[in-house]
Amino acid sequence: MKLIVRKNDEQIADEVSDLVLSLVKKNPSCILGLATGSTPIPTYKDIIRKAKEEKISFKDVRSFNLDEYLNNKDFTQSYRYFMNSNLFDHIDMDKDNTHFPPESDFAHYDDEIEKAGGVDLQILGIGRDGHIGFNEPGTAFDSKTHVAALKETTIKDNSRFFKDISLVPTSAVTMGLGTIMKSKKIILIATGKNKAEAIKATFGKISIDCPASILQNHPDTLIYCDEEAASLLK
Ligand code: PGA
Repeated sequence: MKLIVRKNDEQIADEVSDLVLSLVKKNPSCILGLATGSTPIPTYKDIIRKAKEEKISFKDVRSFNLDEYLNNKDFTQSYRYFMNSNLFDHIDMDKDNTHFPPESDFAHYDDEIEKAGGVDLQILGIGRDGHIGFNEPGTAFDSKTHVAALKETTIKDNSRFFKDISLVPTSAVTMGLGTIMKSKKIILIATGKNKAEAIKATFGKISIDCPASILQNHPDTLIYCDEEAASLLK
């Protein structure tokens, strides 16, 4: 696990988008693991801009998203909607090649990923409690795609996207930690002071109390932090 500290999210987005685009140029049918949330938005913006400028095609790229809400009543709050509006609608991605965890038969998602050849590059954010995907503290390190109950801190954090906290779904289907660990390369992005504790724990003892700490056992993980998120690291 390699730490890369940059001044701000713009610099991180510039570098991470270059890494994604160079993979797509090298392997036009590569498999991306994608994340939602505020953190990857600047990276997706840079991917869109540079793909247009450099005429890089995503038509054969395949993607598997990390997670999706369960029992969500509002499509505009779904992660499918998020990905369409923040990335897929702006590049020539074929929506048939974009995948989200299903509402049932969860284990099938792991099989689908495996059958496709495995995720070449997985983008991750991190929760204040160290979650990756919706793998909250206590999740088994070898977990596959499963239903997760959201912790109170996560529901509170996600409520900023909803009119009312009561509308935030309380469960989701998420790739498991075991699923994520099978990705060939992982890039975790953390920005802002409210991620500093989680990043400190990510580099601490490997423990189910901080799900992201399992990434220490992954052979090719880059942790991109801005100065604030890295501020508690020695
Ligand atoms: P955020 O979420 O990017 O909106 O901070 C990250 C996460 O919960 O994984």
